[in-house]
Parts: sequence; C-alpha cells; structure tokens
Amino acid sequence: MKKIAIANMKGGVGKSTSAMMLADVLSHQYEKRVLLIDCDPQSNLSQMILSFPGLKSAKAAGCTITNWIESFGNGTMLGHNPSPDIDAARTIQSNVSGLESLRMNNPRRRNGQISLWAATPDLRFAELAFDHLYFVAGDRASPRNMLNGLLKDALSSVEVQFDYAIFDCPPGFSTLSQSALLQADLILSPLNVDRVSLWSLMNFWKQGLEETLSLGVTRRYAFLTMVAGGNGAKREKLKLREDLRRFAGTSVLETEIPFSVQALRFVRRVDEQSYTTFNHKYGGIRKTVESFGNEVLNLVY
Ligand SMILES: Nc1ncnc2c1ncn2[C@@H]1O[C@H](COP(=O)(O)OP(=O)(O)OP(=O)(O)O)[C@@H](O)[C@H]1O
Ligand SMILES: [Mg+2]
Repeated sequence: MKKIAIANMKGGVGKSTSAMMLADVLSHQYEKRVLLIDCDPQSNLSQMILSFPGLKSAKAAGCTITNWIESFGNGTMLGHNPSPDIDAARTIQSNVSGLESLRMNNPRRRNGQISLWAATPDLRFAELAFDHLYFVAGDRASPRNMLNGLLKDALSSVEVQFDYAIFDCPPGFSTLSQSALLQADLILSPLNVDRVSLWSLMNFWKQGLEETLSLGVTRRYAFLTMVAGGNGAKREKLKLREDLRRFAGTSVLETEIPFSVQALRFVRRVDEQSYTTFNHKYGGIRKTVESFGNEVLNLVY
C-alpha cells in the first residue's frame, strides 16, 4: 500500500477536493482500492462522502479515526507504549459511497473502491488529549513520534486490503498531520495562483518538512488548483509558475486543476440526485482529473 499525503500549511487551497478527485480517479479509472484518511477536524472530506447525518452515525457507531485516537487517551498507559482499546480496522468504513457502489447494478462494474477513515470535529480534542498524555518535556517531537508509530502499525494491519492510502491533511501542522507526512511515500501540496499561497508553500516545505520533520526533497510535489481562465489570470499564472519552478525545481506537477463549478457541485453527490458515473460527476474537468491520477500514479511508483 502506497501512502499519499495531500498537505499544505495554508487553508482553503483545494486539499480536500483534490483528495476526493484522486480517490475517484484511482478507484474508478485505475481500479485501485483506495483508503481515504481524513486527518482534519473540519471533516470536509468525510462529509463529502457520508453527508453530515451519515458522519454522526459513524461516530456513534465508533467508526471514525476520532474513535481510534480517543482510545489512546484513557491515561492508563502514560509513558509506555500504548495500545489501542479498539482495532483500527473496525473504525474504517469499507466500500463507502464511491462511484462504484453508486452503480452496483452495472454489470461492467470495475474492481476499484473507496474506503474511508472518517474524521469528526472532536478529532481536535482527541488529538489534544493525545498530545497532553504523550508530551515529554524537552522533546516537542514526542507526541508526533508516538502517534507516527501507532499509525504505522494500524495501517500495516490493513494494508493488504488497499493499494493506496490518501491522507487529507488539515491546514496547519497538527500531530496527526505530521505523522501522516512522516510516513507518506508522496506529499502533494496544492496551491493557488497567488503570492500568499506560494509563501505558505515555501514555509511549509522549508520549515515544516525539511527543518521540523527532516524530510528530504524527493517525495514532495506542488500543483496548482482553482486556476482561473482569462488572459490576465493566465499571465499571473505563468509568472507564478516561473517563481514556483525557481523554488521547487522539477517538483511541480504538469496537471493544473481549473476553477470549475463542477468542483463546487460534487460535494452534493450523497444527495438523492447523486452522481452515478465518473463522467457525470466531473463533466468538463474529467480529462484533467484523469491526467492528475495518471501523473500521481507515475510518481508514486
Ligand atoms: N477546482 C475548483 N474549482 C472551484 N472551486 C473549488 C475547486 N477546488 C476547491 N474548490 C472550493 O474551494 C473551497 C476550498 O477547497 P477545499 O475544501 O478542497 O480546500 P482545503 O485546502 O481542503 O481547505 P481546508 O484548508 O479548509 O481543509 C471549497 O469550498 C471547494 O468547494
Ligand atoms: Mg480540507
């Protein structure tokens, strides 16, 4: 199982939307078994898939990553190697409403599927409790290293079931997010066509990935999202791409995701009038989403 983290310090640049697109294209077009891991208390990705009521039931049934992290927080194993009260596999929801399961009756149905390790807003407090319990004075890396080990073990226990795990990281630099970054085979950082977005990416890569997590430069790639059309916008984009290339060298994806109403609409997929096919869901940007998947697959091998 290859692990891909979608991450940037900056909020609202298109991380969750890109995670959804990547999961759809890998499962649907490339027949991969994808595990989406929502690392963000905002729970946007989980809601895109389960809807809000669905997410509430998932939490009540103990089937979220929040439940899993909460299970370390009972305080009895402080200072020792903690083991969870619940099995990670039991908190993952298999075969959720991926495009495949929406068209179960189609005889030409392919084998790809999406599973979800959902997050809820109280993930914030579960992480806080975890940090509090496993923080060692003088070692600010202690909670992250502890969670990294636990997450690694949890994912190895399910890895035969999946080809790819995709982490949707929150904005900022949470403990869970740092653990995901440490074990990712590939880090994809979306950014928008604006200077602030570029500064944020630079800080994230330099201070976050290199200085704090001691990660080398080989596994990370930037890509542009929400790229607007029009001549003025195009000129801005070319200028930004130049600066981005100066900073990131060849670690920039060819694929750029355009600003698209389709991307705004597809969060409604869990409604009754939901999408039944990849083409229907992505409309005019389906080719872009396909080349995004293709480019990522080539990088991760
Ligand atoms: N290609 C696109 N075209 C139009 N709108 C988009 C596109 N991608 C994302 N959006 C919209 O922009 C907003 C931010 O996107 P998204 O939630 O994916 O970003 P994010 O980086 O995950 O944000 P956060 O940091 O809050 O987690 C959302 O409202 C989303 O619907
Ligand atoms: Mg998000």
